[in-house]
Amino acid sequence: MTMPQTITIPKPDDWHLHLRDGDILKAVLPYTAAHFARAVVMPNLKLPVTTTERAIAYRDQITQALSEHMTFAPLMTLYLTDETNPNDLTRGYEDGVLFAAKLYPAGATTNSESGVTEIQNITSILDRLQRLGMPLLIHGEVTDPTVDFFDREAVFIDRVLRPLRRNFPELKIVMEHITTQAAVEYITSESPYGRLGATITPHHLLLNRNALFDGGIQPHHFCLPVLKREKDRQAIILAATSGAGMFFAGTDSAPHLKADKERSHGSGGIFSAPHALATYAEIFDQAGALDRLANFLSTNGPAFYGLPVNAATLTLEKLETPAVPDLKSILTPNGAEIVTFPNETPLSWRVIEKHPL
Ligand code: NCD
Ligand code: ZN
Repeated sequence: MTMPQTITIPKPDDWHLHLRDGDILKAVLPYTAAHFARAVVMPNLKLPVTTTERAIAYRDQITQALSEHMTFAPLMTLYLTDETNPNDLTRGYEDGVLFAAKLYPAGATTNSESGVTEIQNITSILDRLQRLGMPLLIHGEVTDPTVDFFDREAVFIDRVLRPLRRNFPELKIVMEHITTQAAVEYITSESPYGRLGATITPHHLLLNRNALFDGGIQPHHFCLPVLKREKDRQAIILAATSGAGMFFAGTDSAPHLKADKERSHGSGGIFSAPHALATYAEIFDQAGALDRLANFLSTNGPAFYGLPVNAATLTLEKLETPAVPDLKSILTPNGAEIVTFPNETPLSWRVIEKHPL
């Protein structure tokens, strides 16, 4: 019998994650904590995390939901609104409560209704972030209804991001969950390394927009930004597997109850936490870039944010035969179902679990 192929890397971090709160938090947190040492936790709760006080309460809720053997550090974010108080933001950052600020253009995605309506409304906040060196994480899509839905990201770069970076050249910005060739080109050509980074999700690396309609409408492939063309997928694969420091993993694991995904006007968001690392490994293996997996998952993010690389390690192994992962959904404490991703694509990799769930 031949030994399975394995790869061991410093324990990864997830630079963009939705944990929700209450029952869903309890159900999903163990899957992230098993594979990631730290995660940047998104603030788009139903009651958004718009103040330092709410960030502290949310952080406490997350820590309380961790069981004893889990060592996981949530990195908290502040949800920017037209009314964000710059002094509260400053205090939260300087006290080490807040890790970054999150810009949701109002109406762009799940629970973004209280987001920023016009970038001009937060000029003083942007100025403060730049002075503090506090990172700004951006959901980079315009909401203009006259713009084609699939062009929302590319148009955001031209209309919002380019002027923003001209006005605030020192601001540390992460463009979240990039999905397009346009975004890759913008980031690689414009970036003085260290000021502009981007996260990339497992689902945008694995699927193109055909997956939305394959055999009928596929609500479990609906996320924001929406899946794009194959040429865009190829561009983000090249970016992720290049090893370049400005690209790092952010799963955007975004749990919604199965019933909410499958209804009319179903929610955008894909719950990828359990199989995210296996999916990334699959993509890197197919690209012949397993030697750069650690850059993307474990070292680029900490270098960008000025944090240490995790001392713990994680090992993945290659299966003899690719298989669709066994875990197809999880249950909340109330028995509501959350479907996992990927659910139909066979993967050749799996994480060797230290504490099987
Ligand atoms: C996220 C969610 O459900 O909170 N949805 C998604 O499709 N990615 C929000 C977001 O990151 O846009
Ligand atoms: Zn997200």
